[in-house]
Amino acid sequence: MAIKVSPSLLAADFGNLATEVKRAEDAGADMLHLDIMDGHFVPNLTMGPPLIESLRKLTGLFFDVHLMLDNPEKFIEPFAKAGADGLTVHLEVCPEPEEILDRIGALGKKRGLVINPDMPVSRLKGHLDKVDLLLLMSVFPGFGGQSFIEESVERIREAKELIGGRDIDLQIDGGINVGNAARVIKAGATNLVVGTGSFRAPDMKEAIRKIREA
Ligand code: DX5
Ligand code: ZN
Repeated sequence: MAIKVSPSLLAADFGNLATEVKRAEDAGADMLHLDIMDGHFVPNLTMGPPLIESLRKLTGLFFDVHLMLDNPEKFIEPFAKAGADGLTVHLEVCPEPEEILDRIGALGKKRGLVINPDMPVSRLKGHLDKVDLLLLMSVFPGFGGQSFIEESVERIREAKELIGGRDIDLQIDGGINVGNAARVIKAGATNLVVGTGSFRAPDMKEAIRKIREA
């Protein structure tokens, strides 16, 4: 599977979002990772559907929307309508995720499921048949710029094994940079979310290329 890089807009300059989206596009981003935080599931607030709707007018990039919300079920339709292409929900708040994944799929969007670093990968067993993208957090969600949790490499291997022959994109999110990209790709990650390591790199295009080819 070709390696994809999904720059996280959280690390962009929020005062110049139109320029920043263009910069990600020009730098060769495969998709744009949009972190939605509610101040409850995670101790931070970011953006809502109106902002996504405005960004939608600026680019054709795939919008990879990561929902860090206590109640994602209330926001599937609003984000889909605003222009999300993929919606990823946390197993922590959707312990039986089949129904919400079905709703995402019925809207024609890619179905994503994510777990935090402290949830055993084995908990995903039995929940992978309706998933297009499996995300493993390699930091505790809430903030960009945190250090990669090294144990995540082993968790990627475990998840890859669970995925088996299924057509699922294995995404990793948190602290990814040129220095650890090779390790996560070797372990089986096919999709790398990169915030600080892309938007705040001296040369975003160069950083994305190096990470993809790591
Ligand atoms: C963390 C977010 C990440 C974050 C990644 O809560 O889910 O997507 O933006 O940023 P970096 O790459 O800086 O760790
Ligand atoms: Zn994220």
